[in-house]
Amino acid sequence: MKKVVLCILSLTLVLSPGIICAAEPVTSQPTPERFIYCTVCHGTAFQGNRSLDAPNLSILGTWYVKVQLMNYKKMIRGGAGAKNHVQEMQQMVTALDEDAIGEVSAFVGTMKSTPASSTIFGDSARGAKLYQSCGTCHGADGLGNETFGAPRLAGQHDWYLERELVSYRNGSRGAAEGDLYGAQMRASISMLEDEESIRDVLVYINTFNQTLNKN
Ligand code: HEC
Ligand code: HEC
Repeated sequence: MKKVVLCILSLTLVLSPGIICAAEPVTSQPTPERFIYCTVCHGTAFQGNRSLDAPNLSILGTWYVKVQLMNYKKMIRGGAGAKNHVQEMQQMVTALDEDAIGEVSAFVGTMKSTPASSTIFGDSARGAKLYQSCGTCHGADGLGNETFGAPRLAGQHDWYLERELVSYRNGSRGAAEGDLYGAQMRASISMLEDEESIRDVLVYINTFNQTLNKN
């Protein structure tokens, strides 16, 4: 009898994404020795650092970190003529083989999310309307969706998201051959027609609950 009850309980757990998220292990383990150099730019809690152009990694899921590290390694993200901050990250992964990339991604994926503070001003109500189309891939609450390759946006630095959106628009991200996910995001950037729309949508993204566990 006990077994049946347990079965039903675990079935409920599997079917409820909310509970799965809450059950995901989120740790404050010390950074493994060989990856401490990541903290030089990304910060001790991997929370990012504006003065070094480094985004918040603590909010990101294992799968996305891995895809991006592989993209830097294959020179897909940013490509050969990449800007300085992209080149910096391309150089950081040269010493990492696929196993090490898997290891550091798994570590980052278990980190506690440290949300960023807002720096951008704009029209949040207008941003909410613009975000409706973004939510199809990134989720209504900005938590991301692995199936679509769309990363979590909630809790990321707005200055970084702004820079990336501009990069998708001008082709310095998402235009390289073989960057399938980047190309999808590039196609979606046309929904934000100008700088003001980018700011408005980011102000709305800043209203998301940033403390939720990642998926
Ligand atoms: C010298 C500074 C520096 C070091 C050290 C560094 N990074 Fe970065 N990282 C950056 C910068 C700058 C960016 C933004 C690059 C861009 O815009 O493409 C970045 C971007 C990233 C991204 C992309 C995040 C996103 O949202 O798409 C990941 C993942 C990442 N770094 C992981 C790491 C890991 C893991 C390490 C250690 C193995 C590391 N970084 C070491 C500076 C650094
Ligand atoms: C068709 C699905 C789709 C839609 C719609 C979409 N995105 Fe994305 N987005 C993606 C994917 C996939 C990526 C990862 C691309 C890559 O690997 O470069 C991404 C990446 C991003 C990034 C980079 C985040 C980071 O950590 O580097 C930002 C910012 C972003 N999207 C914002 C938006 C906004 C704002 C909208 C609405 C205007 C939007 N997206 C609409 C799929 C989508």
